[in-house]
Amino acid sequence: QASLTCKDILLFKNLDQEQLSQVLDTMFERKVTPQEHVIDEGDDGDNFYVIERGSHDIVAAKDDQSRCAVCCDNHGSFGELALMYNTPRAATITATTEGALWGLDRVTFRRIILKNNAKKRKTYESFIESVLLLKSLEASERKKVVDVIGQKVYQDGERILSQGDKILIKHKIVTSTEVNQEVEIGRCQRGQYFGELALTTNKPRAASAYAVREVKCLVMDVQAFERLLGPCMDIMKRNITHCEEQLIAMFGSSMDLTNPGI
Ligand code: CMP
Repeated sequence: QASLTCKDILLFKNLDQEQLSQVLDTMFERKVTPQEHVIDEGDDGDNFYVIERGSHDIVAAKDDQSRCAVCCDNHGSFGELALMYNTPRAATITATTEGALWGLDRVTFRRIILKNNAKKRKTYESFIESVLLLKSLEASERKKVVDVIGQKVYQDGERILSQGDKILIKHKIVTSTEVNQEVEIGRCQRGQYFGELALTTNKPRAASAYAVREVKCLVMDVQAFERLLGPCMDIMKRNITHCEEQLIAMFGSSMDLTNPGI
């Protein structure tokens, strides 16, 4: 059961088969009830959690609370930061529905995931340095990016992102978009990025992305993106204007991409 739930967890993506089996064998189920605090900000870290089902609120006091209250609905994971960096819990996580989680204890997490991350750092550090967007991050922040990314490979023609998909961030209204006939609006090369627009504007995905031949992507989940790429927001917002111009040129009407749908 845990193996199915954990198959998209980015932190597990670089584990070899044996390491993954060890992790899955060690995981335990934890049932939660509404209003239950799974994690309290400031506590020591005990477990990392993967969501089997149920919704959770994540609130970090250090941040602007309305912006940073992220909710995880039936998928995702949390609780990795305190275990990775030996820091107090950075946010409070409260169950908002009945739910079930898969827990992984601190010792196993550090023994297997962290050991693996050292290898990952070596592999990706120089590539990450060459990504223009990430240049404005501090070196220590770039290391954290490497820690939370996972690698995914897509085959020719495979859909990587779907237009209209919603990104679940609380307090933001999301609307559905009509899917018309698809027109190519651009191609991305090595070192470029995509998928940031919906996260920056809190709108549904404005376009779909497909692999042209085999494509290897480094992927970050929405919470890691919010936590780590805050400092890059200005650069991304600058690029949004360009993206909007491109869409207007194609479709002739303003899609109002810069105005967050709050
Ligand atoms: P940890 O600090 O161990 O415990 C709280 C968890 O909340 C943290 O790990 C992350 O997994 C998660 N989280 C999600 N969003 C944020 C955020 N904006 N700031 C801090 N932690 C967050």
